[in-house]
Amino acid sequence: MNEALKISRRDLMIAGAVSASALASQGAEPAGPTPAQQDGAAHELPMVDVRLTINDRSHRLRLDTRTTLLDALREHLHLTGTKKGCDHGQCGACTVLVNGRRINSCLSLAVMHPGDNITTIEGLGTPERLHPLQAAFVKHDGYQCGYCTPGQICSAVGMLDEIKRGVPSHVSADIVAMPLLSTDELRERMSGNLCRCGAYSNIVEAIVDVAGGVA
Ligand code: FES
Ligand code: FES
Repeated sequence: MNEALKISRRDLMIAGAVSASALASQGAEPAGPTPAQQDGAAHELPMVDVRLTINDRSHRLRLDTRTTLLDALREHLHLTGTKKGCDHGQCGACTVLVNGRRINSCLSLAVMHPGDNITTIEGLGTPERLHPLQAAFVKHDGYQCGYCTPGQICSAVGMLDEIKRGVPSHVSADIVAMPLLSTDELRERMSGNLCRCGAYSNIVEAIVDVAGGVA
């Protein structure tokens, strides 16, 4: 090694300490945020104003942009008829209707729905005037604990409309023909709604009753 470039480890440490104290004496801040600054940034929530139309009523909310539609309904508007089961799009307990189409509200952000018409189980019927599917679930004993029931009913409303609109399913033999409501079609189309109590046969009976029979 060139003698002029020879530097011991001790010399290097002394040089580093001198530079640091020089920076401190000039009041220079070390580069990057301090732990306290990082903590503050983590607590600054990305809030936004959003207007939602739910069951024909307009609601103005200030929400963290990451709030799901399900949490907006339950935690902010106290519409607790819509249930949280898995919170991962796998059980259907959180099913609501958006512009007449069924969706899993746990998989959708509330801020995606300004201008949409959202219908929850509370908007389908009232205890005095039940929706035909609500009445059929009562008549056919289509539930036990009832936890999945709001999602089942909202899903069934959307599903019967899909049949009317000619939307095919995985078991439709001819995807361009108008689908008929067979038991296979019904079970396939409702397969996204799980019932831990296993009330499936009564749920099918209730839906078939409202549909006026199966093909
Ligand atoms: S809670 Fe949304 S699918 Fe289970
Ligand atoms: S009635 Fe209990 S989960 Fe379906």
